[in-house]
Amino acid sequence: KTLDATDCLDGIASVCDIENGRISGEIFYDQKIYEQELEKIFARCWLFVGHDSQIKKTGDYITTTMGEDEVIVIRQKSGGVKVLLNVCPHRGNKVCFSESGSTRGFICNYHGWSFNVEGNLIGQHESGIYEDSNFDKSKWGLKEVAKVDSYKGLIFATFDPDSPTLEEYLGPMTWYLDSLFDNQEGGTEFVGGCIRSTYECNWKIAAENFVGDILHAGWTHDSAARAMLGGSVAKVSDFDESYSVNWNGHGYEFALDTVGNVAVLGDTQLNKYLHTIKPSVAERLGDFRSNMIGAVSSCTIFPNFSFLAGQNTVRIWQPRGPNKIELFTWVVVNKSAPQDIKDRWRKGAMMTFSPTGVFEMDDGENWEYCTKTAKGKVTAKQDLFIGLGMDTYLEDTDLPANVYKGQLNEANSRAFYQRWQDLLQSKSWAEVPNRNKGKAEVEK
Ligand code: FES
Ligand code: FE
Repeated sequence: KTLDATDCLDGIASVCDIENGRISGEIFYDQKIYEQELEKIFARCWLFVGHDSQIKKTGDYITTTMGEDEVIVIRQKSGGVKVLLNVCPHRGNKVCFSESGSTRGFICNYHGWSFNVEGNLIGQHESGIYEDSNFDKSKWGLKEVAKVDSYKGLIFATFDPDSPTLEEYLGPMTWYLDSLFDNQEGGTEFVGGCIRSTYECNWKIAAENFVGDILHAGWTHDSAARAMLGGSVAKVSDFDESYSVNWNGHGYEFALDTVGNVAVLGDTQLNKYLHTIKPSVAERLGDFRSNMIGAVSSCTIFPNFSFLAGQNTVRIWQPRGPNKIELFTWVVVNKSAPQDIKDRWRKGAMMTFSPTGVFEMDDGENWEYCTKTAKGKVTAKQDLFIGLGMDTYLEDTDLPANVYKGQLNEANSRAFYQRWQDLLQSKSWAEVPNRNKGKAEVEK
């Protein structure tokens, strides 16, 4: 079958044959597909917009984007969070230009409309002139994003009022998220600011790398690991027990009990900290998840929120066209960790996964070429292989979600692209096929 990008636009046929381990290069460089992604994925899915610790008091805000739409995430008097379009409803000027801050409201630069923390229009320059013109002030506030919810400090929002609840959207992946975001009393916080950088790559290549591509680590990052961390990247095939799990296109891959085998960020103090907290994690979350803390794991929550647990880097791959992303990166730590440990994680991330980090550069170069090559019209039609580990599904397990044996397979990548394709081909949430076959329930 010849793959044709236009197939997915009218929802008739598949652009990729994912079940048989095949995708098409053109999904990484096609403007029409990108437009569909903005509409059918970024305007519908729950997207990560910030962490509770970034907006503690009323009026504290951060600005970010949902797809290419600019938004303000702002703490309300009620303690809740609103996500507002960062766009003045008069002529569409941007109303907030800073990345974060604390405010009693926003005033538009153009004609002076002003808005309070709730986004209501409260005043205008020359306000008297609006009196005759049938003007209903209450209808012209900043537009509110349809739904906002959070899980263990992670704030998500969606433009789609008909989307499933966040709980349904994340499903049993929350059980695994807790191993990083709820392994100690008090939860987590982001430290330092948001680091922003750009890559000339398609957003899916980055998101898929974190959903389940540990295969590249021992090869791509080996020389950097030797130079920066003083030793090779750990050989994943040496780990006794490892898994890839996925649900609704989200994926987490991890090896158990790697603390001690791998010096987290080359820093023995971080290893020591993880060893110290392990018994309390076991008490809180059970033995299995106490063995997940530390290194050699990665996760993407569909479509574009990712993190690495041992490195404690958290990021959004913001789409900026079919061949460009803006990367927003933060460092996450346990709130209860000693200050010295928090600082070590922050500095470690600067050396590894940030614009100054050697691992980030390794990845960036690969991702840019994986994108650029698809510019060639013949190359774009080439099939790409994602068929590794077709028979690794574990029927017989008590673990939640769809569980696959080992990390060295492409099960999570296939699930990610399958969900991507399903969403592009579905006109409503009701049409999106349920491809999960694992256990949906999690112990609370
Ligand atoms: Fe904002 Fe006119 S565009 S006040
Ligand atoms: Fe990498």
